Amino acid sequence: ASLELGPYSHFMQKEIHEQPKAIADTLEALVDAGFQMHLFGHKAGEILPHVRGVKILACGTSYYAGLTARYWIEAMSGLPCDVEIASEYRYRAACADPEHLVVTISQSGETLDTMEALKYARELGHRWALSICNVRESAIPRASDLVFFTRAGAEIGVASTKAFTTQLVALFALSVLLGKQRGRIGAADEARLIDELRHLPGSIQHALNLEPQIKAWSERFAAKNDALFLGRGLHYPIALEGALKLKEISYIHAEAYPAGELKHGPLALVDEKMPVVVIAPNDSLLEKVKSNMQEVAARGGELFVFADLDSHFEESDGVHVIRTPRHVGVLSPIVHAIPVQLLAYHVALARGTDVDKPRNLAKSVTVE
Ligand code: G6P
Repeated sequence: ASLELGPYSHFMQKEIHEQPKAIADTLEALVDAGFQMHLFGHKAGEILPHVRGVKILACGTSYYAGLTARYWIEAMSGLPCDVEIASEYRYRAACADPEHLVVTISQSGETLDTMEALKYARELGHRWALSICNVRESAIPRASDLVFFTRAGAEIGVASTKAFTTQLVALFALSVLLGKQRGRIGAADEARLIDELRHLPGSIQHALNLEPQIKAWSERFAAKNDALFLGRGLHYPIALEGALKLKEISYIHAEAYPAGELKHGPLALVDEKMPVVVIAPNDSLLEKVKSNMQEVAARGGELFVFADLDSHFEESDGVHVIRTPRHVGVLSPIVHAIPVQLLAYHVALARGTDVDKPRNLAKSVTVE
């Protein structure tokens, strides 16, 4: 394995660092041709113009990619979008609108619950299914009408990293395309969005360069039993993903909350022993997040803030800040996935766990 790992200690670390390339590869066709229907398969032209809503089904990290996409899809296309954990959906007497596009997200393309949820959606009457997948020749894309293959390359670490950020790129492309079709995104907006995507691998590289600072933080987490992750809007799913990564590989109990929900429960857990990680880029919710942070500080909670250069945060007692690159607008959740991955990785290293093969977990879950 050491040959394959090159300068890295684990596949997870290698895969985290492969993200600028994985994203650039996934973007290749898109940046050349623009947001075109054929990106999603040859039947896309017959199907996408008739779509009246989107239903996303997935598990684990892929589910969090779906939660992020809901913000993009509804804002950009005006189509209703709901996102559901596949293992719940498949056993629920759900209502199906035949014209709502089923979108499954699966790195492996083999997750049993996601596959069964797709079959169930068809039984309920959904007419069309799109698969976002990283593995060609896998079961879920084969069972779908449309497909977008992310080009993350083989992912070996059990905890998903580069598959997640490339899924987000694919979902972003879908959101823009649906917006374009519905006349909400014009040629000028499209050109601007393509330009922003072109810069994304560079912004990801800037975020990767924060690794030494994040490693320094990880020492403070290693001895903790719990952690709380907060975000709002587009960054709430990134908080969820940060908490999932931390629990999967470091075995620290971690939870994520939308910061506005603090006062309805988790604030009761906050004391000096509770590290609170906040994703706080300079978006329209920043002022709200800042007041949520004050609620934490007032209870003695220690804040670890990922804020972009434009958020204007100062370090102070009990408030640690790492500055991510300049705010990248609607693509910001993709950039902020990087520091939470690195944090989980370094905390796990500090605790000496088996990073690439966490106990009790499997890379691809093909049983129920
Ligand atoms: C397992 C993996 C996760 C992954 C999930 C869904 O739990 O450990 O990293 O997110 O399955 O997998 P999929 O291949 O469907 O994306």
